[in-house]
Amino acid sequence: MIFDTHAHYDDRQYDEDREILISSLSKAGIGKVVNIGADMASSERALGLAHEYDYIYAAVGVHPSEVEELNDEAIERLKSWTADEKCVAVGEIGLDYHWPDPSPEIQKKWFIRQLDLAREVHLPVVIHSRDAAKDTMDIMHSEHAEEIGGVVHCFSYSKELAKECVDMGFYIGVGGVVTFKNGRKLREVVEEIPMEKILLETDCPYLSPEPHRGERNSSLNLPYVVKAIADIKGISEEEVIRITEDNAKHMYGIITEV
Ligand code: NI
Repeated sequence: MIFDTHAHYDDRQYDEDREILISSLSKAGIGKVVNIGADMASSERALGLAHEYDYIYAAVGVHPSEVEELNDEAIERLKSWTADEKCVAVGEIGLDYHWPDPSPEIQKKWFIRQLDLAREVHLPVVIHSRDAAKDTMDIMHSEHAEEIGGVVHCFSYSKELAKECVDMGFYIGVGGVVTFKNGRKLREVVEEIPMEKILLETDCPYLSPEPHRGERNSSLNLPYVVKAIADIKGISEEEVIRITEDNAKHMYGIITEV
């Protein structure tokens, strides 16, 4: 079944129909979802959802745009949440230079701090990186992120950089952008890297694939992403679903009965 490795179902855009939507996922072929925290409050809500639904898991972490809320005490709280049995990763963490604030120095400090946390608690990381390729790679190398492992989600850089991440053992998160008219760069990445390093993700409510671009996204749209990857790789959609599900379970350390 389809494994959505990156969703934000705690977002208020789902307040009207969250329960109906989440309950409809398995009938539509969606087997598992990891709900990703973006700040302290949404990390806590992610854990709440993971306890409500057995097929939802949580990642806890603070997105680079929100790191000004972090301090030593907040890091301790994140650490205590990582002990939860449904918490499978630290994220999303990283660097986002698209907006001027917070400053790169502040973002780098808390990216490194949360990488350290993941290392300490033996969980993979979900990395968000936008317009910050060089600093992200520099930190991944200097912090030996290859010992931590994880995914660079919503990958937006070149195939050369994707290769560098894969060589460090990282997975590449592929979502709706692969279906966009202007998504050529990501399609080249998918072509370049092995199927064994690709994860399916929505980043919902954002980044709805074609033909629903601009609308609220959900895991129900992932078949469009599956189809795009299958076309690029020249394999069946079933194979894309099976391999990416294995990849996701492996990365998040989710063991299921056979
Ligand atoms: Ni996200």
